[in-house]
Parts: sequence; structure tokens; C-alpha cells
Amino acid sequence: MRRGSIVRITIYGVIAGTIASLAAVLIPWLPTSASEEMDRIEFTFWFTTVICIGIFAIVMAAIAYSVLKFRAADDDERDGPPVHGHTGLEIIWTAIPTVLVTAISVVSAVVLAKNDDAGKNPLRIAVTAQQFAWKFEYPDKTTSGSLVLPVGRAVKLTLHSLDVIHSFWVPEFGQKSDAVPGIETTLVITPTRIGSYSLVCTELCGLGHATMRAQVQVVEATDYQAFLKRAASGDGAPAAADDGAAVYTAAGCGGCHAFEPAGTDAAVGPSLDEIDSGGKPLDAYILESIVDPNAVLAPGYQGDVMPNTYDKSLTEGQIDALVQYLSDGQGGN
Ligand code: CUA
Repeated sequence: MRRGSIVRITIYGVIAGTIASLAAVLIPWLPTSASEEMDRIEFTFWFTTVICIGIFAIVMAAIAYSVLKFRAADDDERDGPPVHGHTGLEIIWTAIPTVLVTAISVVSAVVLAKNDDAGKNPLRIAVTAQQFAWKFEYPDKTTSGSLVLPVGRAVKLTLHSLDVIHSFWVPEFGQKSDAVPGIETTLVITPTRIGSYSLVCTELCGLGHATMRAQVQVVEATDYQAFLKRAASGDGAPAAADDGAAVYTAAGCGGCHAFEPAGTDAAVGPSLDEIDSGGKPLDAYILESIVDPNAVLAPGYQGDVMPNTYDKSLTEGQIDALVQYLSDGQGGN
């Protein structure tokens, strides 16, 4: 090959590589990492991306050179010359991808293994998913509707579902794990950045799927202890307190229902602002609707949408508080 051709191929390769590199670097493809696991995932991502950019540059250079150099004249109707392979080239384009794909596999396997390893003494938090809310149980049995994690400590989440498949995802933590009824799945997170994040359900789980979110806070270890203390004493720990408003929030009622005192306006289920008990005592009717939602359906709403598991997921005290809260919030009654 002449020197001029090599220079041209090199120029095409550099142009293609530069365009691909700019697209990789200038566009924020991933959220800013907030966990050690996400850092490793980012490393895998960049490792693979750099290899891909290299291959892309080489392939584009070969295509551009071939298209320009071997372009047939407009009146040239002849067949191209018969080409019967090239053993040297075939060995090269088999060997190089084999090495690269193996390298990507090894890096990915190491990252997967490390990301699954919570170390000797992780903080264990049980996560319960239910249409359409998340509940977190801390080692001291305190429960809350929000996830609070101390920075720098490995956390092992065990995921459970009470009804259908949900999926736990905090984009800044970089990983997802399904919560599947009947089995226990796990997820390891080692938060590295103090801040507030959003947990989103990332498995289509029913009408309220889009509202199935929870707040995640990464705090200093001392603030985590303070949170647990507050939660245990009932202050700021929704599900631990038998405070109806807190139960309403923690159980995720607002994901589907409008209720003015709680400031929610979802319309998946009937509004709770003016409950029509159909002649029954109001408290008894509300209680029945919580534990057995299909018993009486509000006009225009289908059965089997609201979970019928609240008698299991909430304590009796919490249900009583919720009934009281909803009943107190009735405008006309
Ligand atoms: Cu739970 Cu989507």
C-alpha cells in the first residue's frame, strides 16, 4: 500500500474516532454515581466504550477509504473481481475480537462478583414492595416509608413482594433488582455521596406503577443513628407511628387516591375526600374497604386493582389510625 493511502486511512480513522469520542464524552449517558457499585459499573461501561470507539474508527476508516478509492465509474457495468478470502486477515479479525470480548467478559465478571459482595458485616435492610408503595425495615425492626442509608457502609437489601413483581432502582446507585413474590432477592449498595435520591419501581406492576416511588437519603452515620432513634420513637417514622397521616403516606395510599388533607390528587382509585358509605357506619365502611377492597366497589371503578393485603402489611393499630384519619377528613360527614 502506498504511503498516501496509509495517511488517508489514518485521517478517516481519526475523524471517526473523534466524532465517536465526543458523542461518548459530551452527552451525559449515565447519572452521577453515588455508590461504589455504580463506580464499578461506570468503569465497565467506559472500558467497553473505549474498545468500541477503537473498532468503530478502524471500520469507518476502511469503509471510507474503500468507498472513495474503489468507486466504479458511472458507465462501468462489469462485475467486480472474484476475491477468495485472505487467511492472514481472517486470523486477525478472529483473534482480535476474541481477545477483546474475553477482556470485556473478565472485567464484567469481576465487577458482578464485587458488586454482589457485601463484605462481612453489612447493614441489613428488608425492603417490602407492594402495589404501590415501598416499605423498609431496619435492623432494629423499625419500619419506614423512606430509605435512609449511612454513607460509606455496605448495605445488603433483601427484597420481598407481597403481590406482583416490582423492581428496585435508584439510578445513581446503578443497579436494579426485582422484588418477586415468594422468593427473596438481594441487592448490595455502598453509598458514597451524601444526598437525596429517588427510588423508582422499574417493573410495570399495575395502574399505580408510575407513582410507586420512595425517597432515599444518604446521610452521615450519626444522622442515620438519629433517624433510627426518631423512627423508633415514632417521630418521622411513618409506619412505626400509629399516626394516620403517616400511615397514609407510608402505605402509598396517595399513589392511587386523592385526599385533600394529605395533599394527594391521584385518580387511579376513587377520591377519598367524600366517601359515600352507602348508609353503613362510616368507620366500618372505611375499614372494610381497606382490608377487603372488593367488598363494595365505588361506581365506575373496577375490582382487583387495589391490593387486598393491607390487613397483612399494616398492623391493627396502623389500620385503626388510617380509618380515623380518613374518617376525620370527610368534609360533609
Ligand atoms: Cu411496582 Cu411498578
